[in-house]
Amino acid sequence: MNKRGLLYEGKAKKMYATDDPNLVLAEYIDQATALNGKKKVEIDHKGALNNQITSHIFGYLKTQGIASHFVDQISETEQLLKKVKIIPLEVVVRNLASGHFETKFDVPHLMRFEAPIVEFYYKSDALDDPFINDAQIIALKIASAEQIAELKAKALQVNEALIPFFKALKLTLVDFKLEFGLDENNQILLADEISPDTARLVDQTTHMSLDKDIFRKGLGDLIPAYEEVLKRIQDKENADVHR
Ligand SMILES: Nc1ncnc2c1ncn2[C@@H]1O[C@H](COP(=O)(O)OP(=O)(O)O)[C@@H](O)[C@H]1O
Ligand SMILES: [Mg+2]
Repeated sequence: MNKRGLLYEGKAKKMYATDDPNLVLAEYIDQATALNGKKKVEIDHKGALNNQITSHIFGYLKTQGIASHFVDQISETEQLLKKVKIIPLEVVVRNLASGHFETKFDVPHLMRFEAPIVEFYYKSDALDDPFINDAQIIALKIASAEQIAELKAKALQVNEALIPFFKALKLTLVDFKLEFGLDENNQILLADEISPDTARLVDQTTHMSLDKDIFRKGLGDLIPAYEEVLKRIQDKENADVHR
């Protein structure tokens, strides 16, 4: 599959056209951003780590019956993806209080919720990704009521699949962000990435973050933590293969 023109350069990936109009190529870049891009640095090898982690996760989700844009990992930093029209919503699922939820409501860090919470944010760098509710999404014609219901159900399905996946790696899935898109038949597909950039993962033994909070909070080097996440995924996959 040949890489054609650059379609879009985001904060974490460059998206390229391919010979096939229904496929795009995502190249994961060595950049870390926080505060919607206001804090930005280059971090060697981060692109390769996130590409490998997100490829494993989307591969796993497929085995759990969750359809996505993911076609194949084609190099250390690149993936082949079904091209979708991204629905401009960040769909956040929370199992434990952290980040914005913790500060907004002043609740204890990692307070457990009775049931997972799904939240929507309007994906707009210019507006700083504001919180948006169902009625606002419908009024702005971002998605219909039926599509909102489907997004919530799919997000919770991903959560149910990922909780045991990370638990087996001795990691707690605190929260994560998803993006969805519409394929050529207007079907909703899980898209974008799931990586330590977009999910909070806490080590069950040390209680240390193995995710972008290390960068957001200036706690040190991201790379060893991301390497640890990838290593646990690979070790588990090797153990499963040899069982
Ligand atoms: N399968 C896909 N088809 C088309 N666009 C996609 C697909 N998956 C993700 N994208 C989009 O690619 C862009 C680049 O990703 P990223 O660098 O993470 O952007 P951002 O700066 O918005 O976080 C984003 O706008 C994302 O929504
Ligand atoms: Mg992104």
